Amino acid sequence: MNIIDIISKKRDGKELQKEEIEYFVKEYTKGTITDYQASALVMAIYINGMNYEETKNLCLAMAHSGETLDLSDISDTIIDKHSSGGVGDKITLIVMPIIATFGIPVAKMSGRGLGITGGTIDKLESIPGYRTDLSLEEFKNNIKEIGISLIGQTKDLAPADKKIYALRDTIACTESIPLIASSIMSKKIAAGANKIVLEVTYGKGAFMKTEEDAISLSKIMSEIGRLSGIETVCVITNMNQPIGKNIGNSLEIEEAVRALKGDMEEDVKEIVKHISAIIMKMANMGDDLEENKKKVIENIENGKAYKKFVELVQKQGGDVNYLSNIEKAKNIVEIKSQEEGYIQELNAEIIGKSAIALGAGRMKKEDPIDYTAGIVLQKKIRDKVNIGETLAYIHTNKDNFEEVTKDILTAYKIGKEKPEKYIHISRTI
Ligand code: URA
Repeated sequence: MNIIDIISKKRDGKELQKEEIEYFVKEYTKGTITDYQASALVMAIYINGMNYEETKNLCLAMAHSGETLDLSDISDTIIDKHSSGGVGDKITLIVMPIIATFGIPVAKMSGRGLGITGGTIDKLESIPGYRTDLSLEEFKNNIKEIGISLIGQTKDLAPADKKIYALRDTIACTESIPLIASSIMSKKIAAGANKIVLEVTYGKGAFMKTEEDAISLSKIMSEIGRLSGIETVCVITNMNQPIGKNIGNSLEIEEAVRALKGDMEEDVKEIVKHISAIIMKMANMGDDLEENKKKVIENIENGKAYKKFVELVQKQGGDVNYLSNIEKAKNIVEIKSQEEGYIQELNAEIIGKSAIALGAGRMKKEDPIDYTAGIVLQKKIRDKVNIGETLAYIHTNKDNFEEVTKDILTAYKIGKEKPEKYIHISRTI
């Protein structure tokens, strides 16, 4: 078997056998297959797709490219939550500490920014000292001691995903059902949780552009979850406009901190309450979602949720003082509306690309990130705006803000009529 034959087969639209997929994953993880050969194969998968059997085999090979954790000695229920990616999506950072306040163990392995979407790992690493590369022993101990740990893919856990994920980010291969399903589910299988909630996004700022594609992705991930003995629930969310107000790594930590202290944007609140309530139900803490949502709000208002987040940051080496003094970029530039009316559209793809242009994401694998760069939205869909009123602020250390301002203005469509209600959660599968 050799990689050139495997690449040609997929290039020609043929089905790959289990052994061929396993060979690719094993040898690329070891480094005997080069980045340019892996890029060619990943691009061929992107273009020609994979059937369910191939996707499952890719996922399982990636999950077993390192160790897989057994956390059954900690509890019968270990929770994880993952988003298929979005712009301004800080839901994980808020939901996970909330869940841990109920004594439900949280074992979460996240990723870095991918394409136009931000990554939980980059966001957490914007907190000085926060370690996302814990050893497996530290990961497990933290779950035992404080009930929660949030880490990235490591050389021990899902190392194939770490490499393929970083590669996809810089070769325009992010929007692919088999690549997303195998990436997400390999991490979930390796990290040892047995109940997971997946926030599957669709729309302009998501990899799945339509709700139908988000449903197809959900079905494949749920099926892989079922095969691996993981109870999986998918919540389909609308990502046509960004979630919340802040986009960018430290800006999203700031918004998550505010949310954990009780000051939440309405869209953030709706999704946080829904996902948390579902997790509580899966953890046998009550079948009534409305009652669960009340308990979620209680644990935010009594300070437990923020306290748990601080405990997590401290335990993983982060500077907790930073949480009340988050660094800002040198330039904060106001973008004013040139029109009057209601916001009809706020294109999350343009906002995500603009955040990357400001330095919040990567163009090459090794690119550094400017953690302080990003955008703070002041107006969202259905808001009224007058001429000269602030639409958004750009946070940047670069000097390209005039160009980015023009782009952000094109993200806003303003019209006379107030649009119909904007749906945040379309369905739960
Ligand atoms: N999140 C992941 O972990 N992988 C993807 O491919 C997309 C979102």
